[in-house]
Amino acid sequence: MSALTRSPTWTALEAHARAMRNVHLRDLFAADPDRFARFSLTFEDDLLLDYAKHRIDATTMRLLFELARAAGVEDWRAMMFEGAKINHTEHRAVLHVALRNRSGRPILVDGENVMPAVNEVLSRMGRFAGAVRAGTWRGFTGQRITDVVNIGIGGSDLGPLMVCTALAPYAAQGPLRVHFVSNVDGAHLALTLGDLDPERTLFVVASKTFTTQETMTNAASARAWLLARLGGQEAAVARHFVAVSTNEQAVRAFGIEPANMFAFWDWVGGRYSLWSAIGLPIALHLGMDRFLELLGGAFAMDEHFRTAPLERNLPVVLALLGVWYNNFLGAETHAILPYDQNLARFPAYFQQGDMESNGKSVDRAGQPVDYQTGPIVWGEPGTNGQHAFYQLLHQGTKLVPCDFLAAARSLTPLGDHHEKLLANFFAQAEALAFGKSEDEARAELERQGLAGEALAALLPYKIFPGNRPSTSILYRELTPHRLGSLIALYEHKIFVQGVVWNINSFDQWGVELGKQLANRILPELASDAPVTGHDSSTNGLIAHFKRLRR
Ligand code: F6P
Repeated sequence: MSALTRSPTWTALEAHARAMRNVHLRDLFAADPDRFARFSLTFEDDLLLDYAKHRIDATTMRLLFELARAAGVEDWRAMMFEGAKINHTEHRAVLHVALRNRSGRPILVDGENVMPAVNEVLSRMGRFAGAVRAGTWRGFTGQRITDVVNIGIGGSDLGPLMVCTALAPYAAQGPLRVHFVSNVDGAHLALTLGDLDPERTLFVVASKTFTTQETMTNAASARAWLLARLGGQEAAVARHFVAVSTNEQAVRAFGIEPANMFAFWDWVGGRYSLWSAIGLPIALHLGMDRFLELLGGAFAMDEHFRTAPLERNLPVVLALLGVWYNNFLGAETHAILPYDQNLARFPAYFQQGDMESNGKSVDRAGQPVDYQTGPIVWGEPGTNGQHAFYQLLHQGTKLVPCDFLAAARSLTPLGDHHEKLLANFFAQAEALAFGKSEDEARAELERQGLAGEALAALLPYKIFPGNRPSTSILYRELTPHRLGSLIALYEHKIFVQGVVWNINSFDQWGVELGKQLANRILPELASDAPVTGHDSSTNGLIAHFKRLRR
């Protein structure tokens, strides 16, 4: 047994969970008129995090905070902010917080303050984005740039894509459209380029390593597309391609001059990199001021996370609620459900953020874990999800803790749309928590005129068990600042859970095997020779592919 599962707090939580399994949220609310005040937190002047609709009581939270303290959350938090090499399998510091450190406080890695380099890249990004937006940076033929295509994948795609989608209303009058190409499926690049004018298109090739197959393939094809349409003049590349990477050598080898490269550092994890030059498409689309506001929002959450006591600390509370369901009440998944169309990519962004960080089964000492680690994270915006998968949330056999997010004010007000959206936001959390009892369902059917056998036959289907937990996060408006703080909230939640589970949240070795095998298979697809070196299933699939493609 691991030290974690042997610990007195863990075993106390197991015993407490057995007692709580049969407690209903209806009873918890009935027993405590102050439950909302007791189990809600605020941040800055507007963000409310309501966690009253969770299957918890004061004992649950006391034990969970004890678990966090015993795991050393406060020490690990300090180590991260101080630049310690907490990503031990890659011998790297974890310093996305330095990218948005708006205080000027020095942050040292190997004794060197990283802040001057961070601020220098931010200044270069600002100058470049300003020049492209103002039309002083022009394409090779002297045309203004109107379209930016970001070529990247995973952390080099999802962050800027999510933020540009979320803050699109701020770019409505802006001079630049942005597009994102990630998939190595040629359809993604071909369909994106289909509508674009090469003379007015700027490509941002975003890759931390600058070796990722998908990104290098798409970048090479984009380069060929540009040159074919601009008379094959290599000099055009310098006006239409910039790179964002930590790998200057590979950027040069691709044919992009270092003058057109924006650097970041190995202490920035890919899925935590939108705050670095990986955010260049955000600065291009929205303007650098907005990008700095985004950083400011994240910095505000960093300061809160760094200094607030665990009991009042939003990321810590979110993390511990997740641990409660994941490790003690048997939940396998976690749903993120923004009632905000602009946040449509927020769940996908944190699907990578969470699952690539905490999808681990070996602890920091190299031992297999004997407890659950990261959940399956998924979600879609409301109200669409209500007409798709909420049936399972309400009446299925799975326990799915949900996060509901909404802004009090719409960025794009239209009639009474926003009131209707928010009515659903409030209603879903209420329905999940309290459900509809047998008596309530019976009374409703009677009001509809049913009785006797007809009523009895329908009754079981009309009952909603309730007791399904959710967090509600409600804020004034989805400004760049507020979005920055929401992203940082979830980042730190993931960090805290990784500490509790004693895993390294900042490597991702699990994505390597598939890449290796794909590299082995690729040359095998080039010839018609039979492929026999794999298992019979893989050999059979490849043979079938070769037959079909003829
Ligand atoms: O999928 C693995 C991964 O390494 C992610 O962690 C990363 O965000 C993505 O690939 C892209 O990597 P790069 O920025 O080096 O192209």
